[in-house]
Formats: sequence, structure tokens, C-alpha cells
Amino acid sequence: MNIQVYGSASKAGVAVAQVFAAQIIRDPFSVLGLATGSTPLPTYEAMVELYKAGIVDFSTVRTFNLDEYVGISREHEQSYYSFMFEHLFSQINIDPAHVQVPNPVSENLDEDCIAYDAAIDDAGGIDLQLLGIGHNGHIAFNEPGDLFTYGTHIVELSKSTIEANKRFFASADEVPKKAMTMGIGTIMKAREIVLVASGKDKAQAVATMILGEIDPLCPASALLLHPQVTVFLDADAASLLH
Ligand code: GLP
Repeated sequence: MNIQVYGSASKAGVAVAQVFAAQIIRDPFSVLGLATGSTPLPTYEAMVELYKAGIVDFSTVRTFNLDEYVGISREHEQSYYSFMFEHLFSQINIDPAHVQVPNPVSENLDEDCIAYDAAIDDAGGIDLQLLGIGHNGHIAFNEPGDLFTYGTHIVELSKSTIEANKRFFASADEVPKKAMTMGIGTIMKAREIVLVASGKDKAQAVATMILGEIDPLCPASALLLHPQVTVFLDADAASLLH
């Protein structure tokens, strides 16, 4: 695991955007795995800047998002689908037909999950996956548990995740209780992974991931087994790494 520490969250975001730019320049048909949350916002801003500067062309890129809430429509302003269009897709020249966000709406959500993994496989697998990390060490919506999860699946959100995400909703009651998420296995199949974390409130999760055991109680610790992971931190998120 390669670790890079930057003076600010925005500098880390610029560095991550440059990794994505290099990937797309190397392979314009790249398959990218994308994340939501506050942490990737500086990365998406920097990607938009690189696009506007004519450095990156997204027209042949395909993307798969990590996760989506169950029980709110795509048009809901807090859906991850809406988030991605607001913060990235509407500002770059990506073909909306090349964009996939989990869409848990059918009668049989397990079938939606199987279809999502199949679509990733059909696209040739993910070349470069972006991740954030939750306070409890979750990645995507893979919450701490007894076992690492494998494929895309439906998950009950933990109290702490609902608590952390309630800032985007009128109240905690309005936060969906379930989500559809890539599994740890889905994420680990990506050829390269970039995890970003910023702020003091992420320092403990980052330290547990990097310095602790490989343990499903810290889902992000599975990344220690991946041969190609870079963790981009600001100084606050790195503050417990000594
Ligand atoms: C959500 C998302 C994760 C994200 C995490 C942290 O639970 N499903 O993908 O990494 O929140 O979000 P933030 O970056 O806002 O702290």
C-alpha cells in the first residue's frame, strides 16, 4: 500500500485527479469506478478543470459507481445518481450511456446486484477505482461485520453511517436504511485502487486500516491484500500514522 500525504484536502484531490487523467490518457476506453461523499469533491473539481483545460477527454470512458440508496428515486436530489451528475457528469463530456450507478428498483433486488457485477465484468473490469472511507472503516457501503462481502449486494446501513449521512437529509429518519453496494470482492477485482481521506475525523479509520489487522470489522483493511493501492491523505487524516 502506497501512502501519500498532502498539505490540504484540495491538494490531495488534485493529485488524485491527475492519477485519473493519466489513466484516461493512457487508455481512452478506461473503465473507472467512482465514489460519492464529500471527500471526492476536490477530486471531481480538479477533473472538471482538467477537462476544461483540454487535458482529458471523457468521451469514450465508462464508469461504474460504488453504491446507491434503496428506496429513493434516481431523481431524488440526494440519490448518488443525482450527486454524480451534479458534481461531475454534467460538467464533462462523458456519454450518459457510458455511466452506470447501481439502480435498485426491480422486484428482485438480488437480480439487480447480480446484473451489476455482470455489467462490470462485461465492460472488462474496472481499471481504476476511487474510494472514500467511512468513520467505521466502511468502503462503499460495506459495513463492519463478521465476514468480508463478495459481490454487489443489498446492505442495511449501520446507525453510525445513517448518523454521518443525515447531514444531507432533513433528518436521520429520512436517510434510507438500505443501500445497494459493490462488495469488497467487487472492489478488490479493480486493477488499481485509489482511496482518499481528509479531516481529523477520518484519522482513526485511516490508522486502523493501515496499521491494524486485516479484519472485516474494518472493511477497508481488505485493501492491504491488493497489490496496487494508493492512499491519498491530507495531514489531518494522516495524523495518527506517526
Ligand atoms: C458513504 C459512501 C462511501 C463514502 C462514505 C464517506 O457512506 N457510501 O462511499 O466513502 O460515505 O463519506 P464522506 O466522504 O462524505 O465522509
